[in-house]
Amino acid sequence: MTINNSIKTVNVALGKSSYPIHIGSGLLHQADVVQTPINTKQICIVSNRVIADLYLSTLTDSLTKDKDLIIETVILPEGETNKNQTVLNTIFDQLIETQFSRDCLMIALGGGIVGDMTGFAAACYQRGVDFMQIPTTLLAQVDSSVGGKTGINHRLGKNLIGAFYQPQAVIIDTDVLRSLPKREIAAGMAEVIKYGFIRDKNFLHRLDDTIDDTIQLSPEYLAEIIHTSCQHKADIVANDEKEKGERATLNFGHTFGHAIEALTEYKTYLHGEAIAIGMMMALDLSHLLGKITETDIAFAEQLLQRANCPTRLTKTDADNFNLSPDNIYQAMQRDKKVAKGKLKLILLEKLGKSMIRDDIDKALILQAIAKRIN
Ligand SMILES: NC(=O)c1ccc[n+]([C@@H]2O[C@H](COP(=O)([O-])OP(=O)(O)OC[C@H]3O[C@@H](n4cnc5c(N)ncnc54)[C@H](O)[C@@H]3O)[C@@H](O)[C@H]2O)c1
Ligand SMILES: [Zn+2]
Repeated sequence: MTINNSIKTVNVALGKSSYPIHIGSGLLHQADVVQTPINTKQICIVSNRVIADLYLSTLTDSLTKDKDLIIETVILPEGETNKNQTVLNTIFDQLIETQFSRDCLMIALGGGIVGDMTGFAAACYQRGVDFMQIPTTLLAQVDSSVGGKTGINHRLGKNLIGAFYQPQAVIIDTDVLRSLPKREIAAGMAEVIKYGFIRDKNFLHRLDDTIDDTIQLSPEYLAEIIHTSCQHKADIVANDEKEKGERATLNFGHTFGHAIEALTEYKTYLHGEAIAIGMMMALDLSHLLGKITETDIAFAEQLLQRANCPTRLTKTDADNFNLSPDNIYQAMQRDKKVAKGKLKLILLEKLGKSMIRDDIDKALILQAIAKRIN
């Protein structure tokens, strides 16, 4: 395959399960790129209505250029509440009814919900078929499409049923972000900035220089920050695919953030927004432990604010949902990252370097949370 020079590629190094992530502007139009992982005639594209209306025909045109393929499309209903067993079954129904065989290829065209469900369906159908991720939200491009975590929710909790299952390739077309609502861009930026906080101080400075152009969707800066983010995720996943160690640092801000999401019933904040506030709580706690300075915190907060992320809970939300430090702390205890009864927190040693701690006093945690409630 000839890949044009403006495409950036990251390799996720996992031995026999290694795969490339191609990043660039206009990739959906490039037949040579989207056809990379195809060695079958049967292709099942999974998407939702909004995304399919925008991008499905472009993708199908590129897939079928000079190729004779049978393409089935499954349209999933929108939303986190539909990331469930019943909807998953509709994918299997269609694959079985159309007699898709074990050597078919599944393609996820969508955000994290479509990606997680398609990946899990691919892991299960006939004990595992090939799949490709074409993520269409910034969050999916820098986080959920990379690393092989797939799954669905159970009524008793998020992402409780799933598999580690790696795709054959990830194709990231930065142009699709133009149709994404601005709030979703901001939510994705929180995860981008997270990589800087936990392992790359230089990236934080680069973001400081470029963030205004990036959120205006400059293709050049978008490709650069997505490339750096995917490289970080790929490195972490290559070191620790099944989350026995370093992969846990990707949960920076998430124990606080998950508690905020749960207490606000997943209706008030997008995941990335809750994570932005959670990261500020984790930064404040790191400061209370004497690890990072007030100047670091001010820098971090400004960066998140310039990315249009919230950095504290509003008084109205705190009142409406009873978001007291105690209630948030209780909800943190219920998060699945509590190992053997101990609250495991990802904090910062300094900007650009994380640490994993399970020995922090409750009083300090409450103090850090309280700082972020107006
Ligand atoms: N597997 C992982 O490692 C991992 C990591 C993080 C998050 N997740 C999962 O990801 C999910 C959240 O993903 P998300 O934030 O992408 O949300 P999402 O998939 O719900 O997409 C957000 C919204 O944007 C719309 N949309 C998507 N692409 C668009 C585009 N290009 N133009 C216009 N609209 C578009 C969608 O229809 C949806 O309404 C959660 O279920 C979460 O659990 C998984
Ligand atoms: Zn996240």
